Amino acid sequence: MSLNLGVLVSGRGTNLQSLIDKSTSGEIDAKVAVVLSDNPDAYALKRARKAGIPAIYIDPCTTKPVLVGEAEVEYMKVLNEYKVDLVCLAGFMRIIKENFLNEFKWRLMNIHPALLPSFKGLHAQKQALEYGVRFSGATVHFVTGHVDGGPIILQAVVPVYKDDTEETLSERILAEEHRIYAEAIELFAKGKIEIRDNRVITGGLDE
Ligand code: GAR
Repeated sequence: MSLNLGVLVSGRGTNLQSLIDKSTSGEIDAKVAVVLSDNPDAYALKRARKAGIPAIYIDPCTTKPVLVGEAEVEYMKVLNEYKVDLVCLAGFMRIIKENFLNEFKWRLMNIHPALLPSFKGLHAQKQALEYGVRFSGATVHFVTGHVDGGPIILQAVVPVYKDDTEETLSERILAEEHRIYAEAIELFAKGKIEIRDNRVITGGLDE
């Protein structure tokens, strides 16, 4: 049975676009059922609407970077209305708190543009460049109570070159983000993800 995805976005939405494209082409056994945003001007909302997917702005009702109160209830309500099996954060710049985490326990993933647990938070690619690491990458993980924390599902490594700028490194990482987010969702859809002692054990897609 195909998975119903609920994708939460705040910005331009290239990860969302990649998921829309890969679900349409059948590369992942999932469809984007609904897109929610805390930002009415997010370009991601336009991408969803263009693809005929319901795209809803829900007022976060706060300037704090957390999703709480009425807004949290509203997000959960809409996700359940659309019978969402898996919630994918794709550049959603708010912290998810307990009620939401409990409602979607082990059904809530995030993509981050660094090799976690290094370089959490904003501007991960800039942080990596400033630190001088030789390799960085992307991480897909289940969301728990910590910002950019939680059991890691997949990671991909990219080299960092001497002449890299934030833009060139971000672009190299982004290609990997798009690839591993789809792969993690496909593993989930095929029931190949197991959680043991708070760690993720994955089977191969071909097994
Ligand atoms: C992506 O690079 C994603 O990994 C990052 O925001 C960007 C969204 O781009 N997320 C985080 O930094 C989460 N801490 P997109 O809107 O083009 O998908």
